[in-house]
Amino acid sequence: MYTRTAGTGVPLVLLHAFPLSSAMWLAQRGGLAAGAHVITPDLRGFGGSRLGDDEPSVDAMADDVAELLDTLGLERAVVGGLSMGGYVAMALARRHPGRLSGVILANTKASADTPEAAANRETIAQRLLDGGDLLDTVPNLLGSTSLERRGMVVGRVRGLVGSAPAPAAAWAQRAMAARPDSFDTLRGLNVPALVIAGDEDKITPVGDAEAMTKALPDARLVVIGHTGHLSAIETPETFNREVAGFLAEQIPFSGSRP
Ligand code: MLT
Repeated sequence: MYTRTAGTGVPLVLLHAFPLSSAMWLAQRGGLAAGAHVITPDLRGFGGSRLGDDEPSVDAMADDVAELLDTLGLERAVVGGLSMGGYVAMALARRHPGRLSGVILANTKASADTPEAAANRETIAQRLLDGGDLLDTVPNLLGSTSLERRGMVVGRVRGLVGSAPAPAAAWAQRAMAARPDSFDTLRGLNVPALVIAGDEDKITPVGDAEAMTKALPDARLVVIGHTGHLSAIETPETFNREVAGFLAEQIPFSGSRP
């Protein structure tokens, strides 16, 4: 997996949204590096990581993250994911629970797709493989405040979405369509969790975050104002402040193998 890292301290893995890459975590690599070892991989097929030839599944992406922790010599890490990254973090919690020392679930949901949503993903996958792009999804990814007042954010997200490779985006749509419900996984999670929502998120509204918080045994919910689905990009200072506060509660912690 191609991975960008920054800083030293508590190991913090951040998993990106669809159809972005580790480039989305620029402000987190900058803003959290003083207190954390920020590890931001490109999920399969995105950025600098190869797609490979496995069947589409979030489990394969989660196994990649477990292997990355092996490679880095980390027994455990705080693992955070935004949207699709959150689905992967939940798959990691299901398949490799011992690798987590904490979880951050941002702008994501624990429910599986409805049959209609899964069918729609297949339509999108086909369209992508036929040469279509995803730029029409940008207005949905961003909150109204960003769309009206944060021109730089809109331009940056268009650039990130526009560079998503079609085969990876189609594979990821099929992987997300096949993902299971994760509420039981969350109920059984015995590490602290931070749940982050955006009050202008049209894709995973605050109700999804509330449901995850209720299922998790030890979780705090933060709803960030004036932000949509891409809270880490739209309101990075607030996002970083909440994550830094959560990490500070985990210290002392060493994720390094003796
Ligand atoms: C994402 O931001 O990762 C996607 O919107 C997730 C999804 O399509 O469910």
